[in-house]
Amino acid sequence: MVVLKTGRELKIMREACRISAGALKTAGMAVEPGVTTAQLDKLAEDYIRSQGGEPNFKNYEGYPATACISINNEVIHGIPSKQRKLQAGDIVSIDLGAKFEGYHGDNAATFACGDVSPEAKRLMDTTRESLYEGIAAAVSGGRIGDIGNAVQRYVEARGYSVVRQFVGHGIGTHLHEAPEVPNFGTAGRGIRLLPGMTLAIEPMVNAGGSDVKVLPDGWTVLTRDGSLSAHFEHTVVITADGPKIMTLL
Ligand code: MF3
Ligand code: CO
Repeated sequence: MVVLKTGRELKIMREACRISAGALKTAGMAVEPGVTTAQLDKLAEDYIRSQGGEPNFKNYEGYPATACISINNEVIHGIPSKQRKLQAGDIVSIDLGAKFEGYHGDNAATFACGDVSPEAKRLMDTTRESLYEGIAAAVSGGRIGDIGNAVQRYVEARGYSVVRQFVGHGIGTHLHEAPEVPNFGTAGRGIRLLPGMTLAIEPMVNAGGSDVKVLPDGWTVLTRDGSLSAHFEHTVVITADGPKIMTLL
């Protein structure tokens, strides 16, 4: 069931999203060669708690950390580790969220560690831009397929592919709510978009093929062909005046 949020709910949720955005910025600004992914995770967790929030990924289906940190050919759900040091040239996807007074925020971005290749930069730019294409398509009266179609067209026109095994989602009093928000699809198909719907739109884009595999740790998702992958996500609310991004500072 898709839950439409009231103005009162959206006000609280905006705080959860503001905290999520601050934590992502804090961790992202610390990305540099030699830093461990566990250090980034701690910065994010400390920030969320300092703002009165709680890390909402921690213990979600047994997930052990605040953030998912996925490097280069890792797509999503990389587990932070004291053993994993960032290297110059890495692209580092950080995905995290906060719960505040019962409501969730969720956001992600891919950061460059030092100087990265022009190919890596183009992949990151395309993925970020595809998120904004998807957001622009999230208008009241449209359909869920409009979002995925906008993302997919933008990505594929640039020679990349969208991941299909993982999708965006509704968000609110739960981290994951209906509806699913695929990053591919047919415009005009799927459920109708209405004011008060809150969606986490999150394109995962591979430089090569769309196929992925999961490591034996049960979490880390990699590109099957070893190509680079990037991930950007915002929590968005659909209003009568168009989509509004909630995960902003
Ligand atoms: N950020 C993921 C999403 O956007 C959720 C991560 S699953 C978790 O749906 F277990 F790591 F929390
Ligand atoms: Co999400």
